[in-house]
Amino acid sequence: MTIQLPDLPYAPDALSPHVSERTISFHYGKHHAGYVRTVNDRIAGTPDEGRSLEDLVCSLPAGGLFNAAAQTWNHNFYWQSMSPGGGEPDSDLAAALAASFDSVDTFRAEFAAGAVGNFASGWGWLVFDGSGGNGGGSLRIIQTDDAQTPVTDGLTPLLVIDVWEHAYYLDYQNARAAYVDAFVEHLINWEFASANYAAALRAHA
Ligand SMILES: [Fe+2]
Repeated sequence: MTIQLPDLPYAPDALSPHVSERTISFHYGKHHAGYVRTVNDRIAGTPDEGRSLEDLVCSLPAGGLFNAAAQTWNHNFYWQSMSPGGGEPDSDLAAALAASFDSVDTFRAEFAAGAVGNFASGWGWLVFDGSGGNGGGSLRIIQTDDAQTPVTDGLTPLLVIDVWEHAYYLDYQNARAAYVDAFVEHLINWEFASANYAAALRAHA
């Protein structure tokens, strides 16, 4: 079994002008596909061949194979975190965002500020932290560097933005804030985030 590059959930030009078809052609077709290829090249003929991507990410030691596997997982999640037209969170997620951040608009501002302020080539996440137990849990905005991913810390991602330069440089050059603003205003796939939140609540009930 090999690790697959998932199909994009929309046409390559569907996020334009916020993320152009040219950016996606490189980001998905070169960077993401390259991570997948690296994983498959390195696990071929080893005991890791046949393991799921999630299993690899959560058990590999730090190093090149972990980086390629985690970058594959993160990019799989990133493409799903966007949709043409965005939408709004469902009532349950909207209420949870309001409880954690005062309002959905305040969440957007804090999520954007975190992503813009991430000094690394990395990722900005909305996660569900169910470590409180008893069916409780909270929503948090966190940043990770390089290929790091919250799934290795037992956190449940709801949404992610890629802030590696390859995600925005062709469209925005050094203006990361303009890319992040476009993401939070126009591209967040709230249906995906809401479904992830509902699944997280079920898993921690
Ligand atoms: Fe990327």
